[in-house]
Amino acid sequence: MKALGIDIGGSAVKGAPVDTRTGRLLAERIRIASPKQLSPTQMSRTIAKIAAEFDWCGPIGVGFPGVVHGGKILTAANLHPKFVGCDAAKLFAKATRDRVALLNDAAAAGLAEMKFGAGRGFAGKTLLLTLGTGVGSVIAYRGVVVPCELGHLPHGGRDYEETVAASARDREELSWKKWAHRLNNYLAVLECVLWPELIIIGGGVSAKHDKFFPFLKTRARLVPAKFFNEAGIVGAALAAEE
Ligand code: BGC
Repeated sequence: MKALGIDIGGSAVKGAPVDTRTGRLLAERIRIASPKQLSPTQMSRTIAKIAAEFDWCGPIGVGFPGVVHGGKILTAANLHPKFVGCDAAKLFAKATRDRVALLNDAAAAGLAEMKFGAGRGFAGKTLLLTLGTGVGSVIAYRGVVVPCELGHLPHGGRDYEETVAASARDREELSWKKWAHRLNNYLAVLECVLWPELIIIGGGVSAKHDKFFPFLKTRARLVPAKFFNEAGIVGAALAAEE
């Protein structure tokens, strides 16, 4: 069983065909940088380009960094404002002439990590955070993955993600220790209300977990994502198959 997984991020669009029985990428992923915000039409062309590069004809799953209800996008904090209210599933399906399933990017990462990654076989309450341009979040419990928007919890007049996302560390040129201190406070707030048993940290920065995990103290067991930054691609492909 194969599906094309696409992960729309704040700075790039990535995609690869995935074996949905194993979670393995079937080819090296294609990454198209998007230094400027792409409009929905430009994005659909980019996705069609990735599909064409793989000569793709089959189901496609797309993870989007915003609230997704059905095929429709309701928020786009770090993407082009024209996405808000857009039926992107329809738009991308038209551009690729394939069946497209659309879901939140963190929900995609959660599906992949719970099925094949760091949460595999664990049925207890799990919190997964993806740290990138923004903060993606999901709760998983007994096999059900629920997308959340915990990056937008207010904190000191701003959203938490503005200070704890990996992009904040780059932007403010913070040391790993300083950034981890912020992250620690954020995790303490989340632990207070969610009481997860397992916390999985994903996003590109999770590949460097040895740099900041030593500064984090959580009640729950804390582990890096197994797929690091590729969970979004794998999970989007899983969603396409369903
Ligand atoms: C969005 C979320 C998304 C996260 C990670 C946030 O700004 O609101 O929907 O999952 O960024 O991309």
